[in-house]
Amino acid sequence: MWTLGIESTAHTLSFGLVDENGIPFPSSSATIRPEKGGIHPREAADHHKDCAAELLKNLLDNNQLSADDISAVSYSQGPGLGPCLRIGAAIARGLSAKLNTPLIGVNHCVAHIEIGRQQCGCEDPVLLYVSGGNTQVIARLEGKYRVLGETLDIGIGNMLDKFARAQGIPFPGGPVIEKLAANWLAENPECNMDGLELPYAVRGMDLAFSGVLTAALRLVANGKPLEAVCWSLQEHVFSACVEVAERALAHTGKSELLLGGGVACNDRLRTMCKLMCIERESFSYAPPKMYCIDNGTMIAMLGWLELGAGRITEFEASAIDQYLRTDQTPIIWA
Ligand code: ATP
Ligand code: FE2
Repeated sequence: MWTLGIESTAHTLSFGLVDENGIPFPSSSATIRPEKGGIHPREAADHHKDCAAELLKNLLDNNQLSADDISAVSYSQGPGLGPCLRIGAAIARGLSAKLNTPLIGVNHCVAHIEIGRQQCGCEDPVLLYVSGGNTQVIARLEGKYRVLGETLDIGIGNMLDKFARAQGIPFPGGPVIEKLAANWLAENPECNMDGLELPYAVRGMDLAFSGVLTAALRLVANGKPLEAVCWSLQEHVFSACVEVAERALAHTGKSELLLGGGVACNDRLRTMCKLMCIERESFSYAPPKMYCIDNGTMIAMLGWLELGAGRITEFEASAIDQYLRTDQTPIIWA
């Protein structure tokens, strides 16, 4: 009795599993890394199509399973890039029909949240969901995950990737920026921000990153060391996110903060969240990094939860929804 999860919202195709008790097993994944330019949805979809069979076979082999051991198939129904989502949904429908198992289309953003809750054992957190396409501060209220604040323009990860790409650093740029920033800090422990200031991204409860991106690019163009700008960029945008998250904790009266999404792999951001939570006698949680980036296991986990609560997706209702929002999915499992 295993639930298979299929993630295909953007750059990554990933298959993951949870067992009959909802225990997660590591995913089998592949990510497209264009030599130049950003992610092209069609090219990413072709990449997913080409590597799907091998990834699924690897997942089953690694866990000494056969396809017949799969008792439910879950997939990302949205949000994401249309061509990529359609590949994942087509694979899911095909497997579900062939294996005669229930099909469950789930919300990708909510899956980031639920794998984090499961891994960290927190009850009712405020979520700081920071990924390529999304930057949201979320809290559970009246049966839905409500978005209390979010980016008004681009996602924080996209901003980091764009900045990196302009310096010749390939996708994903976030981890390289993290390393360069850490190098700068090791050599400049006095943390002098003179000449490295950037606009601040907070807009009430919302955030905005495109102005910060333009200003950071200008600093490099004006001759500031790349490592220094990476450090300043991280300090500015992570502080903005942590500030909004802190305000959300204050307004909701909750005492747990949970990080999710690919940018939550960043150790500087993790430290900032910890420090903020210590100061307000709250708790900060971050899942293992393999469950922060896009992964099939989180899709399997949410599918397992929803199936347990009696929800399945009929074929007629299995179309993808590029614009599905975090607050559209009723929380029927908790
Ligand atoms: P979503 O559909 O939820 O927006 P996504 O498609 O952006 O997800 P994720 O795997 O959740 O995919 O996030 C990828 C992003 O995470 C990329 O922008 C990448 O640069 C960023 N990232 C990964 N590791 C780090 C890190 N250590 N520091 C900063 N950013 C990181
Ligand atoms: Fe994601």
